This record gives sequence, structure tokens and C-alpha cells, in this order.
Amino acid sequence: MTKRPIIIDTDPGIDDAVAIAIALFSEDLDIKCISTVSGNVGLDKTTFNALRLLKFFGKENIPVAAGASQPLLRPIVDASEIHGKTGMEGFDFEDPDMSLLRKESSIELMKQILLDSNEPVTLMPIGPLTNIALLLLTYPEVKPKIKEIVMMGGSTGRGNCGVMSEFNFHADPEAARIVFKSGLKLTMAPLDVGVRALISKEVSEEIRMMNKTGNMFYELFSRYRGSSFETGLRMYDSYAIAYILEPSIFETVNAFVDIETKGEYTSGCSVIDLKGYLKQESNATVLLDADPEKFEQWFLKSVKKCC
Ligand code: BDR
Ligand code: CA
Repeated sequence: MTKRPIIIDTDPGIDDAVAIAIALFSEDLDIKCISTVSGNVGLDKTTFNALRLLKFFGKENIPVAAGASQPLLRPIVDASEIHGKTGMEGFDFEDPDMSLLRKESSIELMKQILLDSNEPVTLMPIGPLTNIALLLLTYPEVKPKIKEIVMMGGSTGRGNCGVMSEFNFHADPEAARIVFKSGLKLTMAPLDVGVRALISKEVSEEIRMMNKTGNMFYELFSRYRGSSFETGLRMYDSYAIAYILEPSIFETVNAFVDIETKGEYTSGCSVIDLKGYLKQESNATVLLDADPEKFEQWFLKSVKKCC
């Protein structure tokens, strides 16, 4: 079977680290590059973290390039209170070889990979959508080479950063809006899934003993402030990779989605029209719910494949 080509656009980030690890060790995926963006912490740190992860996993052959150091129009908002000041607080990673960082920006690298690819490539953004918006605006000719965009972001209800906005969309609402207006095939894993697909304390204990990746995750999870280690962690970015690899875990709905950019209190809110009030064609598949047992089994199986 040919492997599915994929580009990961990320701001590692503890849950990003989990999604990246699972993607790297999946036999079904061919990771073309890792593109970094400012998000959970600043761009220098997210890029350093991506390189640290590839060194840890012995996968330094995968190209890493840095993208946008700030949102399109707004000041930076970060999530260092959740992921720690380095963005991956809790584990003592070795320093990476910074000469491996590609010289060109990740927008240029993604463009080249897409144009050179014989088959359409899946994009998996799991940070603010700044790089993806810049790619689509600067090089619209890449669009036919994008199979689909499967992202973590948004919420059908309340937010985790603004009252009504999830962090990735809140950090760069204009970029998110550009992506939702792109006409590309879109799937979003919103905050809602995290209520059901939790990493329990027992699962964290089990992976701790499994292998060196499981042990590293355990250390990161002990410091992650995304939710409670005792009652279950919400591992948001892992839902995007879970959907790509095991879509049967999720219940989905097709809906029209737009991103609020002008709201006095609601910028970055994903307006997900589940009832058709806006009389618009659906432009996205939204993950609404997850089967907790299936997710847990998939997560354990996936960590087992890591080093
Ligand atoms: C998203 O925000 C970040 O803190 C996480 O890495 C995830 O991508 C969840 O809202
Ligand atoms: Ca992220």
C-alpha cells in the first residue's frame, strides 16, 4: 500500500508532540515536512521543539522549516501557562542540531513539496493557521495539490482561550477565516471531542512503561495544564491525527463554518451552523463526538509503535 503524504504544521506544544510522534511512527503516512508556527510559545521555541522531537525519535531526515513568527494582523497570544515556558516543559530533551533547520521559510518549503508531489497531500495544521493562510494566499496554484486539510481548532460552544474561542483560532482569526473560505476539503477537530476522548491516569501509567516515547509522554503529561492528570487529559492535537488514521472513532457532521473576526467579545469564535440558520452550503466536516474506548485503544496501539 502506498503511504499517504502529509505535512504537519505545528506549534509544539505537548499535545502537538503526541500527534507528531504518532504520525512519525504510523506505517500509513509519509511525512513530507514539519512546518512550525508561532502559537503555544514563540516561533524560535516551537521550531527548537520540533527539532528536539525529531532528534529524540531518530527521525532527523524529515525536513523542518519555520514559518510565521506572528499572526497575520494581531499581537501574539501564547499558551505557555498550559505547556510551560519552553512549550514542552517536563522532559529533559537533548539539544538538536540547528543546522538541520531548512533555510527557506516553511511557506516556500510547503509550496515546493506540493508542486513536486505526484499525488495530493494532506495538510494537518495543529496550531494557529497563519502559515496555511499565507501559503494559500501567496501560492494559490498549490490548491489542486492539497487533498484535504485536517486541523485541530474551534469549538461548537464555548472557548478555552476567549469566552467563545478556542486557542488556535483565537490566536489568528483572520488566518482561520482565510482557510475556511478556501473552498478546500476541510475537517476540524474542535474542543468538543476533548470532553470525551480523554487520556486517563491509568493509560498514562501504562504508556510510561511501554517504551521511551511513552515514558517521555508521561513526564510531559505530568506538567501539562490542559486539564487534569488525575481525572483525564484532553490531548487536543492527537484528535486530528486520530481522525486521519482511524476515522471510525468519531461522529461527524457536515456544516457551514465561518470564523468571527469582528466580534467585540468573540473574535476567533468558530461559528458552526449545525441547524442551517445561515442558509449556506457546508464547507467543513466537524468532529462532534468520539468513542472513548476506541480512542483509548487506538492511543495505546499507536504509542506501542513508537520507539
Ligand atoms: C490547541 O491549543 C494549543 O494549546 C494546543 O496545542 C492545541 O493545538 C487546543 O486549543
Ligand atoms: Ca497545537
